[in-house]
Amino acid sequence: MSGRIPLPPYPNGWYCVALSDELAPGQVLARRQFGQELVIFRTESGRVGVADAYCPHIGAHLGHGGTIEGETLQCPFHGWRFEAGGRCVEMPYGGRIPPKARLGSLPVREQNGVVLAFRDSEGREPAWEMPLFDDSAWSPCIHRTWEVETHPQEVLENSADCAHFRFVHGTHMVRPIEGPTAEGPIYRTRLVSDPELLSPEWRLPDDGSIMDQEAMCHGPGLVMAITTTRGSGVTGIARLYVTPIDGERSHLRGVCNLVELDDPRRTDAVAAEMSKLVFEQWENDIPIWEHKRYRPDPALNDSDAPFVAFRRWVKQFYPESPGAA
Ligand code: FES
Ligand SMILES: [Fe+2]
Repeated sequence: MSGRIPLPPYPNGWYCVALSDELAPGQVLARRQFGQELVIFRTESGRVGVADAYCPHIGAHLGHGGTIEGETLQCPFHGWRFEAGGRCVEMPYGGRIPPKARLGSLPVREQNGVVLAFRDSEGREPAWEMPLFDDSAWSPCIHRTWEVETHPQEVLENSADCAHFRFVHGTHMVRPIEGPTAEGPIYRTRLVSDPELLSPEWRLPDDGSIMDQEAMCHGPGLVMAITTTRGSGVTGIARLYVTPIDGERSHLRGVCNLVELDDPRRTDAVAAEMSKLVFEQWENDIPIWEHKRYRPDPALNDSDAPFVAFRRWVKQFYPESPGAA
């Protein structure tokens, strides 16, 4: 990554590479992630494949002109066909499928409205899974995507940053009432708004907007918050997936859901309003992320303790190669 963020660019883990809504059966997407050209496709029966975009035959880009034929992705150059796992299963000429005719595919899961792919610097299989949420009482996903000059760790670190809420998001400062705890790939904190944490001249007037929040990171690719504004009966789930594009930029894919209210029309209205607010809040973070530099050894005060736990937790996702963070 650039001198501004001297971290290895691709921590190991699960990343969102597409939203389920973007990928109808028969659809093929070309996408650059992890400094690599990927083809992302959905077969007619609904299976999703994520693979190296370049055909092992003569190297055509399968994301430009590749088509779905039944359960296979067909190359636009000579018609070889690959199944979702990457194996070549059919050739329109020649007698034998060469063993090398295989797309380098990534492990894939599709859950809770997103397509996730596992990226490991050594190509190892995933040793852990992303959480599968019971979304049966959630409103439909509302999403927005941004391309931002930053690194996943910088975006995730927001979940350890209690003081920025007041200054970047214009809300009360928060404090942990539980955690932070680090259990394997999950970093979790329970937070509550506490206006009194700030010196009196910085406090916002008490407008009743006290929030209780569970903030979590799941691996290096997802930071999320489940938030209830006290007394409102409204609980929102905001997921922010961050996926490196190359050594300089990342995709941010924000997905919002609301726990359904009794009245479906009210659910839709509140979900629309809430997602607009959450998207605006993430957009407030973007200029900070795009211009800040990564401090390996930040000057922290006693309220900044969660940063220490976060930095210790996030190390596990870096390649074990020499020189890694
Ligand atoms: S380049 Fe893909 S089939 Fe020849
Ligand atoms: Fe933020």
